[in-house]
Amino acid sequence: MVGWESPVVSEKALDFKRRVGEHPPEPDMDEDIEEILFHAAAIQARIDELAARITEDYRGKELTVVAVLTGALMFTADLLRRIPLPLKLDCISVASYHGGTETTGEVKFSQLSLPDIEGRHVLIVDDILDSGLTLDAITARFRKERHPLSVRICVLLSKQKPRRRPIDPHYVGFEIEDEFVVGYGLDYDERYRNLPFLGVLKPDST
Ligand code: IMP
Ligand code: MG
Repeated sequence: MVGWESPVVSEKALDFKRRVGEHPPEPDMDEDIEEILFHAAAIQARIDELAARITEDYRGKELTVVAVLTGALMFTADLLRRIPLPLKLDCISVASYHGGTETTGEVKFSQLSLPDIEGRHVLIVDDILDSGLTLDAITARFRKERHPLSVRICVLLSKQKPRRRPIDPHYVGFEIEDEFVVGYGLDYDERYRNLPFLGVLKPDST
């Protein structure tokens, strides 16, 4: 039976969905966001492009993807489902922020043992490249302790700023200004990871 409501969805409603995704945040999270940098559909479109490049580059190679938890969780999940290669997935957990918006400079590994990547091509997937300390610590330990065939880095976001370590990621989703962003896996004090878009936090929310 035909319902009461017109099946035609307004342009305004469609635009809203594109910006914030299917599940807009409730006011107590939404009000902390100053600006949306990349809406849900823009993130997915960029991941399509990255996945296509990675698929071409690693076809026929023994690939292990190492996701850096927790920030890269959403990104890795969306990225890998677009890479139809027989890859392996491992995760490592590191922390350097401990609740603030500036790195403490100290990178702590949660696992006692590293993934078994000896003789394999490794793609490290992280949410964001900031000072470079985290990815430098991870790549240095991998190369020294595990002897992978190659190590490349894929980040969703790269902040344009001087690095404390010279990290050169092979795959970058978006270049951004030096500002603190949350959403789509990225947190401030463990909050906002579940926002479907990437946004800048209001200064008084940190
Ligand atoms: P780095 O060691 O300074 O490069 O920082 C890397 C880690 O810090 C990332 O994996 C993130 O977890 C976190 N981080 C850096 N910048 C931001 C940000 O703007 N928002 C949320 N987390 C961030
Ligand atoms: Mg993090």
